[in-house]
Amino acid sequence: EKGTYPHYMLKEIDEQPLVMRKIIQKYQNENGELTIDQEIVEAMNDADRIYIIAAGTSYHAGLVGKQFIEKIAKIPVEVHISSEFGYNIPLLSEKPLFIFISQSGETADSRAVLVNVKKMGHKALTITNVPGSTLSREADYTLLLHAGPEIAVASTKAYTAQIAVLSILAEVTAKSRGLELDFNLVQELGIVANAMEVLCDAKEEFEDIARKFLSTTRNAFFIGRGIDYYVGLEGALKLKEISYIQAEGFAGGELKHGTIALIENGTPIIALATQESVNLSIRGNVKEVVARGANPCIISMKGLETEEDSFIIPEVNELLTPLISVIPLQLISYFAALHRECDVDKPRNLAKSVTVE
Ligand code: M6R
Repeated sequence: EKGTYPHYMLKEIDEQPLVMRKIIQKYQNENGELTIDQEIVEAMNDADRIYIIAAGTSYHAGLVGKQFIEKIAKIPVEVHISSEFGYNIPLLSEKPLFIFISQSGETADSRAVLVNVKKMGHKALTITNVPGSTLSREADYTLLLHAGPEIAVASTKAYTAQIAVLSILAEVTAKSRGLELDFNLVQELGIVANAMEVLCDAKEEFEDIARKFLSTTRNAFFIGRGIDYYVGLEGALKLKEISYIQAEGFAGGELKHGTIALIENGTPIIALATQESVNLSIRGNVKEVVARGANPCIISMKGLETEEDSFIIPEVNELLTPLISVIPLQLISYFAALHRECDVDKPRNLAKSVTVE
């Protein structure tokens, strides 16, 4: 039930701090250490390459998950859109492990790939919010998101839950391989949960941003570098899906290779700046688009901010910033859709789970 909330989407955005804490608790053992079924950890360690398969928002979570698994657990990862993978199977490594990410566990495009790779004799792990779902039943292993039912068509709390579970999977695998980590993930995810609360309490500011940047525009672009680019892709999907504003996410460095031609006077550009290593470069990209008339909305992280920024998110571990930086994008999309009187929870032409290919 949505209770006093006007929309499920808003309720589900607000549930994210709670979901974060629930995930930490569900994946902790009695000593407070993060833990995952031994057979899943073994499957990770047996693999010479991991193939993440997913669609839509879950695919975007997979892009972030690749960073965790490669940087923390040191296993190479490829991320594929399920509908593409199905018709164009890449050359596989000798010992692949497939990870399916699906909130519903029912997405037909992903299931088609699962059936195929099982036939080929490969192992599969499903990360899903729905115990007993098709993708969970048909895979060898399952990890649950513990996000509670997600009703709004636009996925919000499932995305952050997917990223959190992927970070835990990477951490537990890394530890089992004797790799040293320079942070304590339980602590870092706790900091994330607190930061999420701060953002959920800043709704008025995001409503103002939506009004200022998106009230009359036909299009909007999201830019970022590295992990911020992936969050930008998710921000663009959220915005277009519920507000029908044409929105695209671009890698900052790609602008000059074509996209910058789209910038007109007043074009809103939402730029993410949460990564120290690329902070100067992304700000350089903002200058380039501003010189062509763009209206920049910069969302940065504490410690990297400048005076021109529209919103500064609290500081969290650099790898985990997607868990935080996506919340302003979710809320800005929500208010943009609301201002345009769109059906926020049930956007046109879309279904919550896509069970046809
Ligand atoms: O249930 P799944 O995670 O497999 O669904 C995948 C996509 O259909 C889904 O994420 C879709 O892109 C959302 N509506 C995005 O908000």
